Amino acid sequence: MAQIQAIKGFADLFPAQSALFLRMEAAARAVFPRYAYGELRTPLMEPTELFQRSIGTETDVVRKEMYSFADAKGRSMTLRPEATAGVMRAYIEHGVAARETVSKFFTIGPMFRHERPQKGRMRQFHQINCECLGPREPEADAELICMLMEFLDTLGLTGLTLHINSLGCPVCRPAYRTLLRTWLASLAPDALCEDCRRRAETNPLRVLDCKVPDCKDNTAAAPHILDHQCPECSAHFAAVTRLLRARKIPFDIDHRLVRGLDYYTRTTFEVVSGDIGAQGSVAGGGRYDGLVSSLGGPDVAGLGFACGMERLALLMREQDIPTPRPDFYLAVLDDSCRDTAFSLAQDLRLAGLAGILGFDPRSVKSALRQADKSRARFALLLGPDELAGGTVMLKNMENGEQCAMPRADAAARLAALSSPAAQGPAAATSGEHA
Ligand code: HAM
Repeated sequence: MAQIQAIKGFADLFPAQSALFLRMEAAARAVFPRYAYGELRTPLMEPTELFQRSIGTETDVVRKEMYSFADAKGRSMTLRPEATAGVMRAYIEHGVAARETVSKFFTIGPMFRHERPQKGRMRQFHQINCECLGPREPEADAELICMLMEFLDTLGLTGLTLHINSLGCPVCRPAYRTLLRTWLASLAPDALCEDCRRRAETNPLRVLDCKVPDCKDNTAAAPHILDHQCPECSAHFAAVTRLLRARKIPFDIDHRLVRGLDYYTRTTFEVVSGDIGAQGSVAGGGRYDGLVSSLGGPDVAGLGFACGMERLALLMREQDIPTPRPDFYLAVLDDSCRDTAFSLAQDLRLAGLAGILGFDPRSVKSALRQADKSRARFALLLGPDELAGGTVMLKNMENGEQCAMPRADAAARLAALSSPAAQGPAAATSGEHA
């Protein structure tokens, strides 16, 4: 019978991968609440109109990437391609603005976009997403970016570049859009790719974002949006960048950073890595002051970002960020020891240690090979001699030291040896050990 396979672009996350996801989620849950963010869980499916009205009907996401279908009553439903729209819907629907002037939410979960799968690009992917509603002040933008950089730092990631730009506001952007449209119209007819020839009319800012090399080259001299902003937008951007400099957060001003979703105003940013191939953007976001009101809510400002978890996982692997290891591998060297070993493994787990019970009566050598493969910090060996003497053999897999010890002491000894303090300062801050 033919095998059933997963849908293209939809992945199974086995423990080696989900351990990285758990680590990201733990970092998010440790960092974001210190900035007063609370977790919000919204549905995976929403009415299609929500995404059309928020992300914009001219964007790639809405034009060609949404998983939309009619439900039993013929209503169009969509698997969420991003989290922001659902958070806005929930915020408006539950009248949150009437209860608090500032609301901060984070969400973690799967998103769905029908894109061409490749390294770092999936059709079901996961985001860690933050949204802050209420503040108009530039401190909110700078705080959000500081929080994102702290989160990435907590994961131990390096070599990331923060790109930042401002897209202006409804006061100044229309004039820039007209200026850019006129500038693009002055180019030779074949200077732009087919998509950009359409965008030049419908959404000219997106032309700046095109990845086709010829489009990039031919628009290198396009006017910069930062040079055509109203005094309020200019002052806002100057304040955000000043605050980032004061906190020693390095950034590159990127005049071409326009983002692929239509709701942005003023500050936009992306964090990019050169270590994971063409899909190097690991996080992106910005301010969206008109979004809540355009969805029928009050006139509340907003800003946020999302990190792509698959891309962060690629980077964590690339940069050898460690994942949790078992504390022990307890090898049963003879059938006569099985019951005692089973009980000892349970005692160790109840003492808070993580480990594996392995049956390997062939030889000490093969037991140690299994212990090594499991990445356990310690191998425990239990054979007839230890059984008779009330002991167990302990081998430190990192430095090779070994000794026999009373089984009754094993839990306390291993717990002491596995504590972050016993492993040195690097381990104490790595968050590697539960
Ligand atoms: P976005 O730039 O479309 O923004 O996505 C954010 C991040 O999600 C990207 O930087 C990337 O890491 C990841 N990502 C996007 N598409 C894929 C894919 N097909 N496969 C793997 N990873 C992907 C947003 O989604 C906005 N909602 C962010 C935001 C929140 N802006 C304000 N608040």
